[in-house]
Amino acid sequence: MKVTILTLFPEMFTGPFSCSIIKRAVDKGLVELETVNLRDFAKDRHRTVDDTPYGGGPGMVLKPEPVFDAVAAITGKKGQKSYTVLTTPQGEVFRQQIAAELACKEELLFICGHYEGYDERIRTLADRELSIGDYVLTGGELPAMVMIDAVVRLLPGVLGAPDAASNDSFSAGLLDYPQYTKPAVYKGMAVPDVLLSGHHQQIAAWRRREALLRTAERRPELLAQVALSREDRAFLAGKIPGLFGPEDAQESRKSSEGSAESEKGRIFESKEGSE
Ligand SMILES: C[S@@+](CC[C@H](N)C(=O)[O-])C[C@H]1O[C@@H](n2cnc3c(N)ncnc32)[C@H](O)[C@@H]1O
Repeated sequence: MKVTILTLFPEMFTGPFSCSIIKRAVDKGLVELETVNLRDFAKDRHRTVDDTPYGGGPGMVLKPEPVFDAVAAITGKKGQKSYTVLTTPQGEVFRQQIAAELACKEELLFICGHYEGYDERIRTLADRELSIGDYVLTGGELPAMVMIDAVVRLLPGVLGAPDAASNDSFSAGLLDYPQYTKPAVYKGMAVPDVLLSGHHQQIAAWRRREALLRTAERRPELLAQVALSREDRAFLAGKIPGLFGPEDAQESRKSSEGSAESEKGRIFESKEGSE
């Protein structure tokens, strides 16, 4: 994959792109990252890329000409426009599903805004307008870094194990299950017995239930997008009364014996059943 970033501050990308997993991905040739300085496309000797807004008001607005010229130059090199993402707080909110979609593109171009925002005509260059959340940052550089990091780690070969990202939070719609490593007991807190049992089926079942419970407790709205089995629903209904309709509560009473066993491993129970 080739990722190009159009920015007024190419130097901001040096740190994040020169360490850890992103650096390894670049070194292995799995992704090529290039920054293009928008100022190189300014027309005057002061290298101006912004101007005052028509109609008055505070701040400066990114002019259309340098951005259009930069995109044309980036496209011109290879003859085909990259899938273009405009970073903007007014865009669709970025999430794991979008990261997965972007990871399937051959070439991505991120346009980083600055100042008060873009001349509206710049939006016509975008295939997608993306925001990283409902807050306003100074520029599009940090949002571009966030999105590029999320995309690159999904590229084949970037993470050590081939399925390393598949259990991550949001990948299958749920938050990730709790993870533990050695020692088995730390400051009186024990790793759940099931994880030490070596019984793969039971471990998988425990992880599924923990992921369900964690999601229901912290981000219940995510459950609406997840295909829940009857067993999943019964388990959750037993844990969080009122989460579903009355039929699920009935179902959960029937299967409560089974789920009691699975609870041996939970060590951080509060009165609500959450951490
Ligand atoms: C100060 S912001 C402009 C905000 C604009 N006046 C508005 O209210 O929509 C400058 C630039 O930062 C980037 N930016 C700021 N917050 C962002 C967010 N939450 N997601 C993505 N990009 C953001 C965009 O590139 C934006 O053009």
